Amino acid sequence: MFYTLAQKVMFQMDPEKAHHFAINSLKATANTPLDCFYAQKIDSTPVEFMGITFPNPVGLAAGMDKDGECIDGFHAMGFGHIEVGTVTPRPQPGNDLPRLFRLKPAKGIINRMGFNNKGVDNLIANLKSAKSGALIGVNIGKNKDTPVEQGKDDYLICMDKVYEYAAYIAVNISSPNTPGLRSLQYGDLLDDLLGSLKSKQKNLAEKHGKYVPIALKIAPDLSDEEIQKIADSLIKNEFDGAIATNTTLSRDGVSGLMNANEAGGLSGKPLNSLSTSVIKKLSICLNDQIPIIGVGGINSAADAMDKLDAGATLVQIYSGFIYQGPKLIKDIVDACRVRK
Ligand SMILES: Cc1cc2nc3c(=O)[nH]c(=O)nc-3n(C[C@H](O)[C@H](O)[C@H](O)COP(=O)(O)O)c2cc1C
Repeated sequence: MFYTLAQKVMFQMDPEKAHHFAINSLKATANTPLDCFYAQKIDSTPVEFMGITFPNPVGLAAGMDKDGECIDGFHAMGFGHIEVGTVTPRPQPGNDLPRLFRLKPAKGIINRMGFNNKGVDNLIANLKSAKSGALIGVNIGKNKDTPVEQGKDDYLICMDKVYEYAAYIAVNISSPNTPGLRSLQYGDLLDDLLGSLKSKQKNLAEKHGKYVPIALKIAPDLSDEEIQKIADSLIKNEFDGAIATNTTLSRDGVSGLMNANEAGGLSGKPLNSLSTSVIKKLSICLNDQIPIIGVGGINSAADAMDKLDAGATLVQIYSGFIYQGPKLIKDIVDACRVRK
């Protein structure tokens, strides 16, 4: 009820202004009695994933809380985990405005944010000050002005810094909005990146006396052969998890709609079936050796069940959360409980 009203107001605003309004409101009200407007009790529904017990299978996808400013607010809504980031070593402004567009009739979003974030040191300060004990994944990326050939160094810097504070680390090489980033998904560049991150993880596990799993986040715009090669590299380099998928460059299902021709990645309902089919293919290629977080277009509990049926163990939501509100978290967890 409250979200229906809040959404009415926010959908009258420019999408990025609405985003900042929501983030600032959450920041101001988290850990106060005013969190009653969005806090909800979600029954414990533990799921084992990458050696971690998640309190329930529904997480907040990366990009919503890039700088980890609202961890306690999102935790109060009942998310079983919150993936903050994408964070880069240095702060960067992202692409020029406007860069965020609603495709309301399709329940879709197009964004070309370009990893706007306040940098990894600021994120760590926010992780340290969060009070709720939420399970946090940190999604890491490279700065726009770091050449792709040196991109690996940015991931290693971020990994080194966030390792202590993360429950898991997500390696994002699949955003369409950082030029050249997706080239890291292929061939020797991929193998080299995953191998380097794995050996860094080994060093850091020794140094900190704790093992923090690493997962690779992939795009939906991949051929079957490319999915197979990524799966092979994940297995070879003993990665702990995969996250499928990021936004798509495809405009299937939205042509003719307002904003459909904006550059950037499309998310939300129009992405759902493409993302589910990539999860299914990836799951077959991984042959149960590496678990998957399913994300992309989940707009209902049934969509989430499809992702689990396709081979995912956990799910994440972003656009569906914008269109449906916190109730979507509860709907999905309840559906999972009925299934158990
Ligand atoms: C505005 C916006 C910003 C995003 N930023 C990031 C990001 O920084 N890093 C990332 O890995 N994914 C990012 N994503 C992708 C989401 O995490 C998710 O993979 C994608 O939107 C598909 O899920 P959905 O259909 O539930 O939104 C972003 C998505 C949106 C809509």
